[in-house]
Amino acid sequence: MSWDLRYQAGDTPWDKEAPAPPLLDLLKKSPEYFSAGDVLVPGCGRGHDALAIAKAGHTVIGLDISPKALSDANSLDKEGKVSYQERDFLATTFNDFPKAGTIFEHTCFCAILPNERKAYRDSCKRILPIGGYWVAIIFINPRDEDDLTIGPPFQSSREEIEALFSSDFYLTESYVPDHAFTARKGRELVMIWRRK
Ligand SMILES: C[S@@+](CC[C@H](N)C(=O)[O-])C[C@H]1O[C@@H](n2cnc3c(N)ncnc32)[C@H](O)[C@@H]1O
Repeated sequence: MSWDLRYQAGDTPWDKEAPAPPLLDLLKKSPEYFSAGDVLVPGCGRGHDALAIAKAGHTVIGLDISPKALSDANSLDKEGKVSYQERDFLATTFNDFPKAGTIFEHTCFCAILPNERKAYRDSCKRILPIGGYWVAIIFINPRDEDDLTIGPPFQSSREEIEALFSSDFYLTESYVPDHAFTARKGRELVMIWRRK
């Protein structure tokens, strides 16, 4: 079933109706990660994270391929703080987001197919200026099964992310967050990368 049909059917178990707890910690602890220019949120869904970033005073563009998710996101954003765009993040071009300074990742990387991850990284590479941030909460280990073919969500690893990003980005911070949605405790990794 497509992402849009799942939103239409209300079959959205990933949606916790709240911003990701590690994001709220980051917004308090390291606001500079979100202040380098526009903050893009690929796969923003109903926009809980995007709205939290905007409410913290940053300029945010939420991107998703699902019109229904974006319509819900617009309804939740009563003051119109976030700009939402229907967009395939994997198909961005160099000039699409000239003011971008940060890409905030949460549950988009694990939602795309593993063989699309290079295209995801290439979009980050094209969009971000030197020094721009990829601020990522990676759902590393969403499943108990050790089977990369099951998903979404698809699992990944610290080593995979490092192999994908380290040629064009340098890692400035990486930790398992203290605060997480209950079912995700110990299964996520926060990584802050900057464009070389
Ligand atoms: C697991 S959901 C997570 C949504 C949101 N981040 C959340 O935590 O509630 C994955 C989202 O990514 C979107 N998505 C999947 N592939 C995409 C793509 N290529 N470009 C943009 N959005 C995409 C889906 O429509 C869906 O809203």
